[in-house]
Amino acid sequence: MKDQVQVAQPDRNLAMELVRVTEAAAISAARFMGRGDKDGGDRAAVNAMRAFLKTVDMDGVVVIGEGEKDEAPMLYNGERVGSGRGPKVDIAVDPVEGTRLLAYGRPNSIAVIGAAEAGSMWRPGNSFYMDKLVVEPAAREAIDINDTPTHNLQRIAEALGRKVEDLTVFVLDKPRHQALIAEIRRAGARITLHTDGDVMGALMAAIPGTGVDVLMGIGGTPEGVLAACAVKALGGGMQGKRAPQKDIEKERLAADGVDLDEVLTLDDLVRSDNTFFAATAITEGSFLEGVRFDQGRGIVTTESVVIRSRSGSMRYIKGVHQFKRKFDFEKIDREAAALAQQ
Ligand code: FBP
Repeated sequence: MKDQVQVAQPDRNLAMELVRVTEAAAISAARFMGRGDKDGGDRAAVNAMRAFLKTVDMDGVVVIGEGEKDEAPMLYNGERVGSGRGPKVDIAVDPVEGTRLLAYGRPNSIAVIGAAEAGSMWRPGNSFYMDKLVVEPAAREAIDINDTPTHNLQRIAEALGRKVEDLTVFVLDKPRHQALIAEIRRAGARITLHTDGDVMGALMAAIPGTGVDVLMGIGGTPEGVLAACAVKALGGGMQGKRAPQKDIEKERLAADGVDLDEVLTLDDLVRSDNTFFAATAITEGSFLEGVRFDQGRGIVTTESVVIRSRSGSMRYIKGVHQFKRKFDFEKIDREAAALAQQ
């Protein structure tokens, strides 16, 4: 008997609306590329993201945001976003993932949003850093974050039908990764080192054919939850483990009685199978083209990736935006600054 193909009723893909939000944040932030102004770029992206989020019909709560309310006046953890009508969702945002990349005009900074059914996203609490291991769908059963990088690479290579020498591992170029980098080299795999931006690293590792096969190493915990929205939607494999780097973080986690040996699976990071993810490149990258301002033709172009778990769809969206209809980001910035004064 032939397999029955299940036909689903067409329904809404929230990520298709969230991509307008990441596009706006990326365009606004791109005005700051290479200017050395980390905070200015981030502020511009936050303002644009917040203004555009209001247009999306959803009842969202920011779970992964710019920080606690007292330190982040906008897109803070717990802030309600969206029109208030529509599905109840948890929202993870990073208006500029890779603020230093943007400030120095380096590749791979992105504006990014993840969404999942309300109550399903993991709250990192006092965990700021976590160890991460991400791979594409075909290797998802091969990973074990408690095992050595060498053994993981051997199993991943086997699952993908390749040699370890043919794997490329994305690692953040940080002093804490010296031993990890040395071990990956000894194991024979290739490495691509990046100063920042492990959400992009996770995304590339989870999508076959991007030139990155594995993400390994310690990065931000909020970035881990954001990445999990994408990896889940892509059917990839991901595991994490809290890896506190600062004394205050260690002390707080100890006071909370947190077990640092706990392995966080993809289902721990986002419980729901209904996840959405949208990212727009700000600066250029090998995976997504950055924001390009073309004054001559009066256009600005963007490139985004939009992913949804329920349908398993992934779209690359090239946006061509007309300057003459361009949103007045300076006005949005002025209004946000006035609001912050109140
Ligand atoms: P920002 O966008 O907040 O600057 O984060 C960039 C980033 O590189 C993340 O991609 C990564 O998870 C984290 O910072 C690593 O933190 P640190 O630079 O403190 O090691």
